[in-house]
Amino acid sequence: MRPVNRLNPLLRFKGANLKSPFRWPQPAVMMSQRRIFYFDNNATTRIAPEVVAAMMPFFTERWGNASSAYGFGNQVVKHMDLAREQVAALIGADPREIVFTSCGTEANNAAIHSALITQPNKRHVLTTAVEHSANMKYCEYLRRHGYEVTFLPVESDGSLDLHLLEKSIRPDTAIVSVMWANNETGVLFPLEEIAAICRSQGVLYHTDAVQVPGKLKVDVDSLGVDFLSLSAHKLHAPKGVGLLYCRYTAPFHAYLLGGGQEQGRRGGTENVPYIVGFGRAAELAINTIQDENTRIRALRDRLEQTILTSIPDTSRNGGRDNRLPNTSNLTFNGCEAEAILLLLDREGICVSSGSACTTGSLTPSHVLTAMGLSPARAKASIRFSLGIYNTAEEVDHLLTKLPGVIAAARGAATAIITDRTDCAPALAT
Ligand SMILES: Cc1ncc(COP(=O)(O)O)c(C=O)c1O
Repeated sequence: MRPVNRLNPLLRFKGANLKSPFRWPQPAVMMSQRRIFYFDNNATTRIAPEVVAAMMPFFTERWGNASSAYGFGNQVVKHMDLAREQVAALIGADPREIVFTSCGTEANNAAIHSALITQPNKRHVLTTAVEHSANMKYCEYLRRHGYEVTFLPVESDGSLDLHLLEKSIRPDTAIVSVMWANNETGVLFPLEEIAAICRSQGVLYHTDAVQVPGKLKVDVDSLGVDFLSLSAHKLHAPKGVGLLYCRYTAPFHAYLLGGGQEQGRRGGTENVPYIVGFGRAAELAINTIQDENTRIRALRDRLEQTILTSIPDTSRNGGRDNRLPNTSNLTFNGCEAEAILLLLDREGICVSSGSACTTGSLTPSHVLTAMGLSPARAKASIRFSLGIYNTAEEVDHLLTKLPGVIAAARGAATAIITDRTDCAPALAT
């Protein structure tokens, strides 16, 4: 029998070298020997080695179906139960209130769908104009299919007018779905106050909290929400698994109908390795809140302040204080964000314009335009989102490269306007 290393499950692979435990290359991500400087943690995060290690046995050894009658299959149930406890602990929930899903998008859709199905006489949904497309697109779909949806506007700093929210709740409002942290600007909405308004009006409240865990403490009881969505890949676990917290008092109807998995609340054979990885990531995330709010916040502030003071004609989008500690959304007037992305990419630097799901689209960010930015300013905006693997040296590297990149991007924009010629030569500088 080949040796089994019980301390490090990764080393159970056939042929694994027991003398060299698995480690990610440090300090930055390596891709084809090229160093990557990753500042796009709101798009997705690097999987923690501890998470990979926790998942591996469920690909290689314990790959049975949790619903099977025999021990080989159902032995994985206890590992899913542990994961359920770990994610519940991250948000202060009872494990029985957790429904694992395939992603944050499914969790958002499921919450709104459930509210409409369980209250068939209520056909109105109240949400905001700055939600992630994982919510917006479903609400737009509902509107096209006969439901009424109100998309609340936001102020120029990205904040919400709570009086307007309260006034917009109607007798036929099935659910209020308002996100916690905006993925593009990091702006935080006052969840507890919104939940109190919803409770006083007897309306269900769902929040998309996908960007929050690991950055801020989450306690569903003190928040008072009925439904809350999370996605594992934003907290150093793989893409393809998420969860919906369903308060035990909230009526719930499954979105995916099939087998009786998740206590009949979500059909589909459970993705055991990913659920286990999500659990381990949740356990780790409880400890990263401190780092996010001290070291990463300081790195973000230094990055932002240096850019705003050293590169002319730049401005921040969203209020300075009431936002996630890792996110900075800045406008570089006079250039196209896509040109900046391209030029930074050549330096191995990863940032984004708006949400990863809409990067590449020609329309300006719906979040920034809802905050009153002109289409041109919105299209000149870049999101920097830091994470626990970022170092001060990486921020220095970005700050060294950025002024030249912005000058080149502005030159390219000017060349396009004045000559209407191809911008490639200017971008190549
Ligand atoms: C705020 C927010 N909600 C929902 C999602 C969608 O999550 P998933 O990619 O797991 O579907 C994202 C992902 O970018 C997000 O940032």
